[in-house]
Amino acid sequence: MNIGILTGGGDCPGLNAVIRAVVRKAEKHYGMTVFGFHDGWRGILDERFEELTIERMRGTLPRGGTILGTTRDHPYMFEGGTDTVKNVCSKLDIDSVIVVGGEGTLSCALELQNDDVVNVIGVPKTIDNDIGSTEMTFGFSTAVDIATEAIDRLHTTAESHDRIMIAEVMGRHVGHIAAWAGMAGGATIVLIPEEKFNIDSVAESLTRRHNAGRYASIVVVAEGALPEEGTMELREPGVDQYGHQRLGGISNVIAEEIENRTGFETRVTVLGHVQRGGSPNPFDRVLGTRLGIAAIDAANDKNYGKMVALQNGDIMTVPLEEAVGSLKVVSPEFWDAAKNFFA
Ligand code: F6P
Repeated sequence: MNIGILTGGGDCPGLNAVIRAVVRKAEKHYGMTVFGFHDGWRGILDERFEELTIERMRGTLPRGGTILGTTRDHPYMFEGGTDTVKNVCSKLDIDSVIVVGGEGTLSCALELQNDDVVNVIGVPKTIDNDIGSTEMTFGFSTAVDIATEAIDRLHTTAESHDRIMIAEVMGRHVGHIAAWAGMAGGATIVLIPEEKFNIDSVAESLTRRHNAGRYASIVVVAEGALPEEGTMELREPGVDQYGHQRLGGISNVIAEEIENRTGFETRVTVLGHVQRGGSPNPFDRVLGTRLGIAAIDAANDKNYGKMVALQNGDIMTVPLEEAVGSLKVVSPEFWDAAKNFFA
């Protein structure tokens, strides 16, 4: 049996662990051939691929990014795109394609399955951890490690200068990274997209804390955090070529507002893509590996249109439509626990 694999959307630590696991079990256990398409769906559209072998995958487990490359291009963007996918897969005698991606890439995979273009098996990835039906996506844990270390470092410089430090982390629609890193790093306040913030209340909390003799504060802000209606002016974010909002930088506006209201010196650190680059931590290597094994098993079982997922500590398969239809937000229970530590 021949299998295809591609990685789409933003990269994240752990992608190579998935590819390596797929290739290992495919070759060693099932005697399959795996074709790795380059740069997401682009690789199928342009017929750019390589045969992946155990030998080729050596040394890739600790490597960040994806050895296959990634883009957000997809077959529905181009005239005749779905026909090309059909033709290329039939030419290579590909039975199914393992699609490793986030919400956008997996939604496209589901559409291709439903339109009978190609059989797919999804593997969820994103540092944002916002995909439904799976407890955690690989990449998230590494991102939290990086953000937590940054917050720890900001603490000491904040204390030395009696400053407010804002750490802006990724999190487009959800605040998992902010909530986890904020809790792990002992943040004074955390702002997440799920709960609109009031800048006056934020400033009051910081002032109260300073008046009580704590002159250094860390505010963790998810890039997608939103102020309550009419309380603060934000610049309209630009969009990329796929129409996605380009976030990042909201903290600069928040810092100005805080300084104006409190009179305390405030500095901003935007962590950005540092959270996505570099080596995956052990948890993400293991999760990626387990998901990769489950994906190739699903391919062997012809269990198409499914996504492999972590549920109650076990790896399961769930219908793709169930997973892509729901955004996983920070749970009220988690947020209630986190709020106990806010100023
Ligand atoms: O979805 C993952 C993510 O890292 C978001 O947190 C962030 O907003 C976005 O990707 C950034 O995408 P790009 O690399 O295209 O700027």
